[in-house]
Amino acid sequence: MKYIVTGGAGFIGGNFLHYVVDKYPGDEWICLDKLTYAGNLETLAPVADRPNYSFVRGDIADRDFVFELFRKEKPDVIINFAAESHVDRSVSDPDIFVKTNVTGTVTLLDACREFGIRRYHQVSTDEVYGDLPLDRPDLLFTEENKIRASSPYSASKAAADLFVSAYHRTFGIPASISRCSNNYGPYHFPEKLIPLVISRALNDEKIPVYGNGANVRDWLYVEDHCSAIDLVVRKGREGEVYNIGGHNERSNLEVVKTILRTLGKPESLIEFVKDRPGHDMRYAMDPTKIEKELGWKPKHTFDSGIPATVEWYLSHREWWEHIISGEYRNYFEKQYGL
Ligand code: NAD
Ligand code: TYD
Repeated sequence: MKYIVTGGAGFIGGNFLHYVVDKYPGDEWICLDKLTYAGNLETLAPVADRPNYSFVRGDIADRDFVFELFRKEKPDVIINFAAESHVDRSVSDPDIFVKTNVTGTVTLLDACREFGIRRYHQVSTDEVYGDLPLDRPDLLFTEENKIRASSPYSASKAAADLFVSAYHRTFGIPASISRCSNNYGPYHFPEKLIPLVISRALNDEKIPVYGNGANVRDWLYVEDHCSAIDLVVRKGREGEVYNIGGHNERSNLEVVKTILRTLGKPESLIEFVKDRPGHDMRYAMDPTKIEKELGWKPKHTFDSGIPATVEWYLSHREWWEHIISGEYRNYFEKQYGL
C-alpha cells in the first residue's frame, strides 16, 4: 500500500512516520509537507534514509500540485496531519488557518474524488467540541458532543471535519476522523506549552502562564496518539469519528510546576501574563469507543511521559536550539514582549 502522510515534518506527523516506516517495511510512505515555520526536516532524520520513505515539498491547498501528485503517485491512503496548529497564531492571523486547514482539506478530498482512494483519514482535535466547565469534572467529550468551536483554529478544524463527513456521505469517500486531546513528547515545537516550559526553564528564562493557570488540558504522550491513528486507519470503520485521550487531566499550573520540579528549577520562574482571548477552560476526552471497538490502550501516563519528554529535550538540545535561534525568536518576542 502507498501512503501519503501530510504534515509529516511537524510534531505528530513526524512521530507517526517514526512509528510506521519501520513497522511496515512493505508499505510505501510519502511525506508531503509545505515546511512552514512548524515543519522541520531535522525531525525526519531518523527515517530519511529508509527505502520505503520519501519526502515531497508542497502545499495541500495548491490544487494543481496536489492533483499532479495524485496522478503521479496513485496513493492508496491519505493521512492528513497538515495544519496550522497554534491557537495563539490563529488569533493574530486567522486567514492562513482557513487556507490550510479548510481549503487544504477540501483540496485533498477533491483529489480523492478524482483519482479514487482506499482510505482518507483526517487528524482532528478535541478542540472542535468547544470547552467544558471546571466545576463539572463528571463531563467528558464523546463523539456525540456538539461541534462548538471557540478559536479560529478550532473553527477551521471543525469546518474541515464537516467537509470530511459531507464528502463521505455525498460522494462516498471512504473517510474516517480521529479527534485527540493535547499531545506532548519528542519533536514538539517550542511555542506550545510543554516544550516551551522545558526549553525556557533550561535557559533560566521566565515561563509565561496565561491568566491564573487554572485551565485544564487532557495530555496524551504522542506515541499513544500515533498507535491510535494507525489502528483507526487499518481497522476503524469508514464514516466514523473516534475520540482519543488517556484521562490525564492537569491544570496548566500543575503542568508547569511538575516540569520545573523535574528539572530542579525554581517556581519563581513562573510569570502570570495576560490571558488568551476566548481561552477554553477545560478539555477532557472519553475514549471508550476506540478502546472497546479497536482495543486501543495508551502505554504512557502523564507521570511516565513527562520525565521521558524532559529527558528527550535534555539529550536533543541541538534540535530545539536550532528552532529557537531562527524565525521562532522574532515571533516569540512579538507574542510575549518578554
Ligand atoms: P505542527 O504545527 O507541529 O505541524 C504541522 C505540519 O504541517 C508542519 O510540518 C507544517 O509544515 C505542515 N503544514 C502546514 N501547512 C501546510 C500546508 N498548507 N501544506 C502542507 N503542509 C503544511 O502540528 P502538530 O501539533 O503536529 O499537529 C498535527 C495535526 O494534529 C494537526 O492537524 C492538528 O490540528 C492535530 N492535533 C494536534 C494536537 C496537538 O496537541 N498538537 C492535538 C490534536 C490534534
Ligand atoms: P497550547 O500548548 O498552546 O495548546 P492548546 O491551546 O491547543 O491547548 O496551550 C496549552 C495550554 O497552556 C492552554 O491552556 C494555553 C496555556 N499556555 C500558557 O499558559 N502559556 C503559554 O505560553 C502557552 C503557549 C500556552
